[in-house]
Amino acid sequence: MASITLDRIVKAYTPEVTVIRDLSLEIRDGEFMVFVGPSGCGKSTVLRMIAGLETITSGTMKIGDRVVNDVHPKDRDIAMVFQSYALYPHMTVYDNIAFGLQIRKIPDAEIKSRVQQAADTLGLNAFLDRKPKALSGGQRQRVALGRAIVRNPSVFLFDEPLSNLDAELRVHMRAELSKLQRSLKTTTVYVTHDQVEAMTMGHRIAVLRPCGKDPSVGNLTQCATPMEIYDAPANLFTAGFMGTPKMNLVKATISDDGADVLACGTRLPVSPPFRDAARRFKGKDVVLGIRPEHIGAAHEIDWHSDTSITGTVEIPEPLGHEVIVHFQVQGQTISGRLRSHASLPAQGDPITLQVRTEAMHLFDPVSEQRLS
Ligand SMILES: Nc1ncnc2c1ncn2[C@@H]1O[C@H](COP(=O)(O)OP(=O)(O)OP(=O)(O)O)[C@@H](O)[C@H]1O
Ligand SMILES: [Mg+2]
Repeated sequence: MASITLDRIVKAYTPEVTVIRDLSLEIRDGEFMVFVGPSGCGKSTVLRMIAGLETITSGTMKIGDRVVNDVHPKDRDIAMVFQSYALYPHMTVYDNIAFGLQIRKIPDAEIKSRVQQAADTLGLNAFLDRKPKALSGGQRQRVALGRAIVRNPSVFLFDEPLSNLDAELRVHMRAELSKLQRSLKTTTVYVTHDQVEAMTMGHRIAVLRPCGKDPSVGNLTQCATPMEIYDAPANLFTAGFMGTPKMNLVKATISDDGADVLACGTRLPVSPPFRDAARRFKGKDVVLGIRPEHIGAAHEIDWHSDTSITGTVEIPEPLGHEVIVHFQVQGQTISGRLRSHASLPAQGDPITLQVRTEAMHLFDPVSEQRLS
């Protein structure tokens, strides 16, 4: 068991290319931490620095109380499942999973029981005698997971470990990995593109973005529990990145008396958490954020609303259990949610939907931070 401390970590692959800037983060002992962020923002780079596979340009990395900047990967007691994992092609599934234990001279009986347990969890019992080339991509990925699990390390590092699995197996493995982590209580860092994985698996989520060239901009935009991130995104990046369908982010102005937000041709009363901030922003531009599930048809909603917006339907997206409807309001596209597809609106139809104003988010368009 171990915590992981990143203190002002910088990674520059070349003097011109800084990929990670000023990353400070404490991953608690036993915590399941999820990293999300767009492709190329440096998620794998951070994981590889924790594992010791990539040098750290500056800053301090600790595992437990030990500074590990210069500690060899094999001495970090970490098991990592890579984004592009490699199995030993000439070894059976059993030996692939057992190999890390065999070279550590663990007794055979112990190895057998650990491999058996991992194979049960991962549904690999039928394949233990096969070679990797006789497995599907998803089965191979599970072998790679098995190899990590049997090691019983202080830290698991997972880099998109479920990305090759089909939808059904992904859902199954998502739950299995969460259960496993909760029972082993092994500190885990898990990289994913998948919003559902991030929301459901992690104790906390760290949302990363590319740090770009501006030396004052770091990669970490927010680190909080999934629900904190969903309910109170700290900035425009997190607001736009977390949530499917995406939060509507629209240009708006605070009224001169600070009581309302003027957006989409309507006045929305400022919700209580933003009242103080709105007084500071009287007459000024803001960005209004509102999630599609907080824009709905008057006869379907189960919340109170006196505020509606009217626009023209661009496209309805029936998903079966709900319909996401995209509509144009004064040159901006807004997405709302209908519960029923009984009477689907058609492109070009006028549409009026209610807004749950107490679920609004307000951001400063300059600093991009949440107003609070
Ligand atoms: N060895 C390297 N030399 C130079 N640049 C690199 C090297 N490895 C990665 N990069 C760059 O560093 C950035 C971060 O890469 P990284 O693989 O960490 O991203 P990622 O967030 O894991 O992306 P993805 O979601 O696509 O896996 C990318 O722009 C990448 O091109
Ligand atoms: Mg990656």
